[in-house]
Amino acid sequence: MKILTIGNGSREHSIVESLAISNIEPVIFNIGSLINPGILELCEKSGGKVVRSDPNDPKKVVEIAESISPDFAIIGPEEPQFHGVPDALLDAGIATVGATANCSMIERSKAWMRRLMFKYKIVGRLRFKSFTSVEEAIAYINAYAESIVLKPARQSGGKGVRVISDLQEYLKKEKRAVKEKHAKYLIEKHMKPYSDIDDKILIEEKVSGTEYTLQCFSDGHSVIPTPLVQDNKPAFDGDLGPETGGMGCCSYRDTLPFITKEEVDDSLKIIKQSVDAIQKETDEKYKGIIAGQMMLTSLWGPTLIEFYSRFGDPEGVNVLPIMKTDFVEVCEAIISEKLNKIKIEFEDQATVVKAIAPRGYPDYRDLAKGHPISVDLKLLEKYGVRPYYGSIDVVNGSWITGGSRSIELFAKRDTIEEANEATERCIPAAKLLDGHQLFHRSDIGSKERLLVEADKANLAREIYLYRKEHNLIGRKVDWIPLRGKIEYKG
Ligand SMILES: Nc1ncnc2c1ncn2[C@@H]1O[C@H](COP(=O)(O)OP(=O)(O)O)[C@@H](O)[C@H]1O
Ligand SMILES: [Mg+2]
Repeated sequence: MKILTIGNGSREHSIVESLAISNIEPVIFNIGSLINPGILELCEKSGGKVVRSDPNDPKKVVEIAESISPDFAIIGPEEPQFHGVPDALLDAGIATVGATANCSMIERSKAWMRRLMFKYKIVGRLRFKSFTSVEEAIAYINAYAESIVLKPARQSGGKGVRVISDLQEYLKKEKRAVKEKHAKYLIEKHMKPYSDIDDKILIEEKVSGTEYTLQCFSDGHSVIPTPLVQDNKPAFDGDLGPETGGMGCCSYRDTLPFITKEEVDDSLKIIKQSVDAIQKETDEKYKGIIAGQMMLTSLWGPTLIEFYSRFGDPEGVNVLPIMKTDFVEVCEAIISEKLNKIKIEFEDQATVVKAIAPRGYPDYRDLAKGHPISVDLKLLEKYGVRPYYGSIDVVNGSWITGGSRSIELFAKRDTIEEANEATERCIPAAKLLDGHQLFHRSDIGSKERLLVEADKANLAREIYLYRKEHNLIGRKVDWIPLRGKIEYKG
């Protein structure tokens, strides 16, 4: 059997690894813009190869795929989906695991996703307005000063979202100025490269709570969950610094220590209803991975912040290495629409994944780029920690950093704290040979952080359970001077 994989990050390294350990012993190929050393080794060992090419170009991908003639392809990242790579592969008669361009609208357009949730009355939806021009957005901001979240309407690589609390009357003018400035910035900076959706700016009601991700397989009929994962986006300890693609995640058996089984079930219901809605709206089957980035809020309980039409990175690296079911079998079941016929099981272990990135990431990627990097595999072996290589390019046999996260370290243990400790011991394994520094977050998976998240969850839980009991879930009441009570029900 031949399998083609698309994408060259840590997530794809773990996808390729899961395929490589299959009993079916497939020959694995990869297309990526960088030559990932981990993927290269596994592909070559299987008898396949890695091709450097643009994974977002459907024509080029199909050309390479046709020369390989794989039994199926699997797409790692979101951009190839947005560019219609799965559609082109399917048109060329190549079975593909990965949402089509239309299905991946659930991630590509945050505005499309919000409209869908309202149209199909899916619980956990947030009130929103979307705008095609900055003038309209500013007019709205000036008319309704309140706590809001300003977002680029399109997925733009995890950047541009700004949460603005607007509570004090005496700061209204200043807050308005911040909102206006950010709305302009979104149009001028973030949405400029994209012309594939009409909406430009999204304004959402602001909620708060602990966040988690539920990643699922979908074959167009069944939606099967993987263990719950918690991601950490800010670059530095204590949630400080700029937003990144994700500095590390933890998982704890089926759920996290601060999220209940019921809340996982409710989150899964939201994702299932959304997959149904996507399929109705697009008239296409959703065959691939769908993940809900959720927040436990006092308004709804499980609440949808955004969808991924693929595994998260690093979130995927938490769940794939502990999947006991043969991944090739899972992919085949997705393609043949028979997910309900197999049992997808995971090891009963806690996991921690930590990203290590060169200084400069995420805001000054040129500084993070071009450094020779080495990894002490002996140290990793000693603690049973596994490396998943990310933004590293093999150039003439040397490993050179790209501008993003270089490595993700994975550990599994009985508890999150133990897994955290194992990854921490292995951080010194990665070194830049020219003396430039690497950084990571030491607090991910620590007891202190878990307690903070548990506090946030308890606070939201107390309120949303009260709301549920009193039929107030999802309802919001505002008191506007001279107008009186305005009640919203999403
Ligand atoms: N409506 C919201 N209320 C409060 N916080 C939000 C809201 N939407 C997003 N956020 C915060 O901003 C982060 C990024 O938003 P998200 O929609 O996931 O965009 P992206 O990951 O593409 O940057 C979320 O992880 C969350 O912490
Ligand atoms: Mg997000």
